[in-house]
Amino acid sequence: MSDVQTLSRDAVDVLRENDRGNYTVPTKGLYPFQWNWDSCLTALGLWHVDEDRAWREIETLFAHQWPDGMVPHIIFHVDDDGYFPGPSIWATGRPTPTSGITQPPVAGFAVRRLWDRARNHDVLSRRVKALLPKVAAWHRWFFANRDPQGEGLVALLHPWESGRDNSIDWDEAFERVPTEGIAPYIRRDTQHAAPAHRPTKDQYDRYLWLVEHFRGLGWDNAKLHDASPFQIVDPGFNAILLRSCTDLADLAEALGETAIAAENREFARRGLAGMESLWSSARGQYLCRDRTTGALVESASIGGLLAAFAAIPGGRARTIAATIETLAAKARFIVPSHNPDDPRFDARRYWRGPVWLIVNYMIADGLARAGAVATAERISASSLDLIRESGFAEYYDPTDGAPLGGGSFTWTAAMVLEILNPRTGA
Ligand code: GLC
Repeated sequence: MSDVQTLSRDAVDVLRENDRGNYTVPTKGLYPFQWNWDSCLTALGLWHVDEDRAWREIETLFAHQWPDGMVPHIIFHVDDDGYFPGPSIWATGRPTPTSGITQPPVAGFAVRRLWDRARNHDVLSRRVKALLPKVAAWHRWFFANRDPQGEGLVALLHPWESGRDNSIDWDEAFERVPTEGIAPYIRRDTQHAAPAHRPTKDQYDRYLWLVEHFRGLGWDNAKLHDASPFQIVDPGFNAILLRSCTDLADLAEALGETAIAAENREFARRGLAGMESLWSSARGQYLCRDRTTGALVESASIGGLLAAFAAIPGGRARTIAATIETLAAKARFIVPSHNPDDPRFDARRYWRGPVWLIVNYMIADGLARAGAVATAERISASSLDLIRESGFAEYYDPTDGAPLGGGSFTWTAAMVLEILNPRTGA
């Protein structure tokens, strides 16, 4: 068997292991439910195995969309007390319990990519037409609830929304989140993965304070933004949203849904203009802005490189590629989730240094589109090297490639299938 065949077969095995019929779990034990952006990216990998199943992954997610348009970050399809915080802590009152916050909106991108590859558009068009207004409602929800001043960019109200849970980006703003008064709790994550690779207790206390605060406001999204002491405009998150807006607009246009197309084009236009305010020439990347103070956050993390996923100006994308090339000189594997020169860099702790294949995939996709093909290929090659050395882990140490966090990880496997078969059906 060739190297490609072996890697593909192993990746398919991981997807099968974590398939629960209509959704996949990110990995057994650590994450026993459906996660939002995991599912959308996983659908791309599932496509290589079973096209119908790929669409079902996303349809299941959207079946749990809130009436206001939000798509929650976790759907608790089953009871499992191996995970904390579970449904009783969130207490969102949904028919199937869900969390009360959202995650990076990569669905628009995923749906368009699946559609572009579809083997039979006639058969799929009914399903896609049913999904389009749902994705559009989610985008509308973002701008209505997370951009109250209409600046074109949306804020995160909880680090878990970013998908980059304990990034260094949040440290300073997080200091303003209190810890007093939270109910006693027992973490479960540190029973499944090494505590040194996971967020600290102090961070966890603040995560829970925010959850309790929002719960106290009845999860009313019209109130949460202004009531949150944590409001961060993350370039990576916004880039994912803007890319999804553009992709949804293209797809809507192709299917004759002109109102959805026009609305999403406008979101993308305003957002891309707004992104300019996050650019740092000194660092050769975008930075987060703390909306409560208005200041840029001096933290060179992967969020500012992930911005290449959106249709940013070509010059910005080329600078990001050059920045990644300098990171490649400092780490054996790219792209580290934080700049190794920063004293806060931590090669093994969750989002504070390690490499994640999903982020690599999105950065490489954006850079390739912008013409920075050599860097894009270098990122993909480094991603596969990690798999060959360390298997399908949740994340990896960029200095020595050690596998970290959960094992047999679904979206890592999905990205491997994508990287190995870039043009299949596209
Ligand atoms: C962690 C990650 C998040 C992911 C989840 C499930 O919380 O930080 O991005 O969605 O695990 O894989």
